[in-house]
Amino acid sequence: MDLLTLPPPLPAERIVELNRPKGDLHTTRSYRWNGWDIEVPPGVFRPGLTSAMIFDRVLSGEIEVRGRRYLAMGCGLGVEVAAAAARGAADVYAVDVHPASVATAADNARRLAPARPAGERSTRVHAVVADVLDGFPQDTRVDVVTFNPPAVSRPVSDDPDVVRNVCAGAPLLERFFAQLAGRDVLAPGAEVYVIASNTADLREIVAHAVAHGFTSEVALRHDWDDGVLTYLFRFTAGARA
Ligand SMILES: C[S@@+](CC[C@H](N)C(=O)[O-])C[C@H]1O[C@@H](n2cnc3c(N)ncnc32)[C@H](O)[C@@H]1O
Repeated sequence: MDLLTLPPPLPAERIVELNRPKGDLHTTRSYRWNGWDIEVPPGVFRPGLTSAMIFDRVLSGEIEVRGRRYLAMGCGLGVEVAAAAARGAADVYAVDVHPASVATAADNARRLAPARPAGERSTRVHAVVADVLDGFPQDTRVDVVTFNPPAVSRPVSDDPDVVRNVCAGAPLLERFFAQLAGRDVLAPGAEVYVIASNTADLREIVAHAVAHGFTSEVALRHDWDDGVLTYLFRFTAGARA
């Protein structure tokens, strides 16, 4: 991929304006998706429209997890974990650096995903507290990874929980791709989906992936008509693009 086809980050003031914290992160909130009413505990990211772009695709199979081993990186509330269980993933690894998010995600998957038809094995949900892959079980391979990272490129708060959820920036993605490439976690043919917008440094993110040997393609580009462009990238291990 020619990195220059990706938009540069929006102006700093616009990024900060778009991501100004609501001030309610440390309270209990609610979220509804797919008819599921979910309580969002303090500190856990409340999903937004970008999050739902992943949830919709996991449930529909556009990001196919059925019968596969799926790693939900930065799972937060765990709606994608529950969607994958509903879709019929073999295994789902609910991974987050925030222990309360991991516990919530695992609970939500067990509570929300409908029972599998008789004779079909239910999804095994693995709750994993890890700093990216530091803490992920050795000798475990996965077929699909998704990550809606806190990729916003400008600091929008001093609160470390807001930073963790929103604006850790491209350096986190550098660690993500370095660890994916350096550890034997991706099964042959594995797909890695990352979603981010031009409130992040998209060129730097993709450059990190390419530097670690991944091939990149744009699976989806969404224009929100307010200057924000969201990209869903699909990365595969292999020849450089
Ligand atoms: C934008 S939220 C996405 C949450 C959820 N996947 C969604 O789409 O609603 C980013 C998530 O990444 C997690 N996170 C931040 N840094 C991380 C790290 N170093 N390792 C693992 N997870 C991390 C945060 O705790 C948060 O849950």
